[in-house]
Amino acid sequence: MKECLAKRMRNVNPSFVREILKVTEKPEIISFAGGLPNPKSFPIKEINQAAQKVLTSDGASALQYSTTQGDIGLREFIAERYRTKHGLDVSAKNILITNGSQQGLDLISKIFLNPGDPVVIERPGYLGAIQAMSMFEATFRSVSLENEGVDLSEFKEAIADYLPKFFYAVTNFNNPTGITYSAERKQQIANCLQKTNIFFVEDNPYGELRFFGEDVPLMYSYLPKQTILLGSFSKTISPGLRLGWVCADEEIIGKLVIAEQVASLHTNSFAQKVILQYLQDNDLDEHIAKIQNMYQQKRDLMVAELEKYFPKEVEFTRPEGGMFLWVTLPKGISAVEVFQEAIKQNIAFVPGDPFYVDKNGVSTLRLNYTNSSDEQIQRGVRAITKAIKKFLRECKINCVSDNSR
Ligand SMILES: Cc1ncc(COP(=O)(O)O)c(C=O)c1O
Repeated sequence: MKECLAKRMRNVNPSFVREILKVTEKPEIISFAGGLPNPKSFPIKEINQAAQKVLTSDGASALQYSTTQGDIGLREFIAERYRTKHGLDVSAKNILITNGSQQGLDLISKIFLNPGDPVVIERPGYLGAIQAMSMFEATFRSVSLENEGVDLSEFKEAIADYLPKFFYAVTNFNNPTGITYSAERKQQIANCLQKTNIFFVEDNPYGELRFFGEDVPLMYSYLPKQTILLGSFSKTISPGLRLGWVCADEEIIGKLVIAEQVASLHTNSFAQKVILQYLQDNDLDEHIAKIQNMYQQKRDLMVAELEKYFPKEVEFTRPEGGMFLWVTLPKGISAVEVFQEAIKQNIAFVPGDPFYVDKNGVSTLRLNYTNSSDEQIQRGVRAITKAIKKFLRECKINCVSDNSR
């Protein structure tokens, strides 16, 4: 069978997270593994009202084929929000509605990448992007991610040596690390990319989920012609509706529209009309504020539990928003082995391995805090601590922190 497949399929593995999620479907599992929003945040009643309104007032067009670029009202809403909240000079012409931002990643890869084309990504990087780009046989060069963003000298070297088609980054409350780029680092990166043909693909599904601290300007405001910005309603309204978008220069949007036409004709027009109706009848900021409160409380609890129980040799990030934090175990301890031990006690998380394109057996892991109850967070952290301590005792080498983040 393998030899019948296109070459590009041969090295693409099913998502490690999806495989892990299969185990976590068991009801007894406490899962910090997936990137699931808390279902308590879903505006079920309001979406129900919006759907009924759409069907009653505009049912025929909601159920008909539609334009590829997406509902004009929805694109205007998104562009207006970028103008007022972020000062971006964009209009509906700069927006393409996609089937989640994941489809945006696929379409961007499709229009930019020939087999073997170089791209620069973060180390660790979002595994859904690694998968999307792998499908188009990208060659990856990863640059280490630090507290303020990617390491600048490594980044400059990668750009100069590699001349990538684009640099892909999750700059706010990064998946998997929870790290947010500083404005200074963004400016430095913009300076490097100016006067090149290299694009910055800024993936921003978590940007609205800030708990504290100041917003950092989007890359689009530093490099408007060279930034391709991805957004999503998955983390603010509902992932099941599968609505995301790409915001970019009109010329790029034109190419993406062609790719979208081929892929799916257009994104689900009923879902687009329902979400637009929801946005017209409700205050999105008020809704997001409720999610921020709920998630901050969970983030604070998880951080407090980790501070209380984790051995001092274990490091972890303290995100200012988003859904994840990133743990670095002492060097020599494999996160996969800790996972195997933790899962015996029905606790799941994602070992760091799938977030790297060039190594495995790593000592890092991702914890999601948004989709567990307080009691589950408390129980889960204690069980992971127990698993880590088992390996810490067995660790023959000196426990030096792994700097390979
Ligand atoms: C960084 C990042 N990009 C894209 C996506 C895909 O999101 P969507 O539901 O909008 O397709 C995710 C999902 O978790 C993500 O974490």
